[in-house]
Amino acid sequence: MPLLEARNLTAGYEKLKIVRGINLALNEGEILSVLGPNGAGKSTLLNAIFGVARIFEGKVFLNGKEITGKKPYEVARLGIGYAPQIQNVFPNLTVEENLELSAFKRNGIDVKKEMESIFKLFPEIERRRKNFAKTLSGGERQMLAMARALISKPLVLLLDEPTAGLSPKATSVLLKKVKEIVIELNVSVILVEQNVTKALETSNRVAILVGGEFVYQGNSNELTREEVEKMFFGEKVRQEL
Ligand SMILES: Nc1ncnc2c1ncn2[C@@H]1O[C@H](COP(=O)(O)OP(=O)(O)OP(=O)(O)O)[C@@H](O)[C@H]1O
Ligand SMILES: [Mg+2]
Repeated sequence: MPLLEARNLTAGYEKLKIVRGINLALNEGEILSVLGPNGAGKSTLLNAIFGVARIFEGKVFLNGKEITGKKPYEVARLGIGYAPQIQNVFPNLTVEENLELSAFKRNGIDVKKEMESIFKLFPEIERRRKNFAKTLSGGERQMLAMARALISKPLVLLLDEPTAGLSPKATSVLLKKVKEIVIELNVSVILVEQNVTKALETSNRVAILVGGEFVYQGNSNELTREEVEKMFFGEKVRQEL
């Protein structure tokens, strides 16, 4: 049984259907990249899983339990951590305060203890623990966003463009960190990423979203960047779905 599964999911906002007929399965210990051009609906898909977007049709399961239509705080409690694309930290709170706020999402969490173990994984932000989030560098801020999503010990981590705006060096550091936490924290990841080459390197499997629909799903090592980008433009490179 997959850890996270979406079946025939159609979702969007108000009356607008943005993603349609999505079938997705995330297995334990896996990193799944969701790639696609701007506006394809990648963030909307994560929003739908997390209970932010409206679900018109289909179902979402976590560990075999249906979570379709649950509120974001309920989804978080059940074990999904989300680092959204925008507004993923509170700029006018310190690093510690940012972490404390999200730790409360899950019951029975020893906030102090979890914060120290998170800081072991992210020494880059431990050094800045008393500083306001708005004073962090881009890379540090993305690490804080990821740390906020992880502090409540989720089973599944949703990362929306965690490397946006980062230098190639900072991108590599951050994606290496993603691979590390999969092992260290036993978490499985859906990664939305603009950098196709790095996404293929980082993930086990890849799903390609174009115009709100998956056009391809397969193993990351079977695809090249060129093939992925051709699919972005609607070329039929492969038929595996
Ligand atoms: N809150 C919203 N209300 C209405 N429409 C929205 C909302 N958020 C996004 N959309 C629309 O949904 C479509 C898909 O947007 P989405 O942000 O999911 O794409 P994306 O693949 O994440 O793009 P990007 O790569 O630029 O982040 C766009 O046409 C966008 O205008
Ligand atoms: Mg997006």
